[in-house]
Amino acid sequence: MSGHGDPIPMTSTACGPLRGTADVPGDKSISHRSLILGAMCVGETTIAGLLEGQDVLDTAKAMRAFGAEVTDHGGGRWSVHGVGVGGFAEPSGVIDCGNSGTGVRLIMGAMATQPITATFSGDASLNGRPMARVTNPLALFGCQAVGRAGGRLPRTLVGAREPIPDRYVVPVPSAQVKSAVLLAGLNAPGKTVVIEREATRDHTERMLEGFGAEISTRETEEGREITLTGQPELRAQHIEVPRDPSSAAFPVCAALIVPGSDILVPGIGLNPTRAGLFTTLREMGADLSYENERTEGGEPVADLRARFSPDMQGIEVPPARAASMIDEYPVLSVVAAFVRGQTVMRGVRELRVKESDRIDAMAKGLRANGIEVDEGEDWWTVTGVGHGNVAGGGLCASQLDHRIAMSFLILGMAANAPVRVDDGGPIATSFPIFEPLMAALGAQVSRDD
Ligand code: S3P
Repeated sequence: MSGHGDPIPMTSTACGPLRGTADVPGDKSISHRSLILGAMCVGETTIAGLLEGQDVLDTAKAMRAFGAEVTDHGGGRWSVHGVGVGGFAEPSGVIDCGNSGTGVRLIMGAMATQPITATFSGDASLNGRPMARVTNPLALFGCQAVGRAGGRLPRTLVGAREPIPDRYVVPVPSAQVKSAVLLAGLNAPGKTVVIEREATRDHTERMLEGFGAEISTRETEEGREITLTGQPELRAQHIEVPRDPSSAAFPVCAALIVPGSDILVPGIGLNPTRAGLFTTLREMGADLSYENERTEGGEPVADLRARFSPDMQGIEVPPARAASMIDEYPVLSVVAAFVRGQTVMRGVRELRVKESDRIDAMAKGLRANGIEVDEGEDWWTVTGVGHGNVAGGGLCASQLDHRIAMSFLILGMAANAPVRVDDGGPIATSFPIFEPLMAALGAQVSRDD
């Protein structure tokens, strides 16, 4: 949707206490992987709780184009009849991945070691993002890529006819790059080895194991070393998708800054490679607790309880935690505006190559609302002014980025004057029920005429 429809300007106004239960949608990372791995099995994979955001719907469409039978049974229940490892058909049209970096990079990996050709494209945001970080390691398997300068989309990949397994040290902390290499390794004979210096989200590894692949991980001096044996017969699975911690971040952060709030956000995936924001908020003094901790579908899960927290303070976020909260820095910077003291975020260069340059987008919008932000290439700081002192009143550009749009709407819920966002359309990529969910808690977010 984002980049395809007319802009949807939105306004968020200060509201009374947020109260109630927030049932956020399924995890985006796990939803993409469920469809892609389901397409690479023989037999029927069933999925419950799939995120039906535009990013994931674009991946479902892509899997159909590669020959899998993907069916929507309603209410988040989906099934995938896969074609087996190495069984992708050649798509007849361009694969449009919309706004989704995860979708395009993982699918490129999956098709790179199959003897087919596919052309990938996306919206203006995706077509501006770096793809050489994926096509370079895929070239080591024998996959060729041609396209625009700088590795940008649209891009055509010619899959390797006789793939060679790869040993690859991932040069940037990116789960998408790691996952693309592992998915390519599925159809290469022998062992593919991926080494990451910083641990990133490990859903691909966990799910590959669940689907019956031979995969192991060990810590080495170089970093985390993952070894996958190629050409397994993957076994179709039933997958229960946990709810997305990156979406939970929005109601949780809103409750911390809106006076009197007390909300429950049940069933949130708390895989340690994803939960860095919640650790950080607790270190800042947030009244945030984990209730009913349990394991579901191999992932740790808990109900989050978040209450208004007027005594939070700025901290220096440990750079080693960055990968585990990389998508949450925008909304953390909003909370940082309401606390006392400075919040320092270092080691976050990757924020500059997301759906937007997220440091730039947040710095501009926060400044437009009276907040002081300092930034360098891989760091930024936000100087908090304390509760009741955030001016608001600014117009913020969402830059085709769902998380930027939602972050500024959260800012408006506790600022002294309404906060406007130029385009809330991108929210549909990851959190299509954001508006009714926040309204049910008591927020006042409206679409401008
Ligand atoms: C994702 C990995 C992260 C994250 C993205 C989802 C994934 O990207 O920002 O939203 O599902 O693998 P990078 O791998 O580029 O850090």
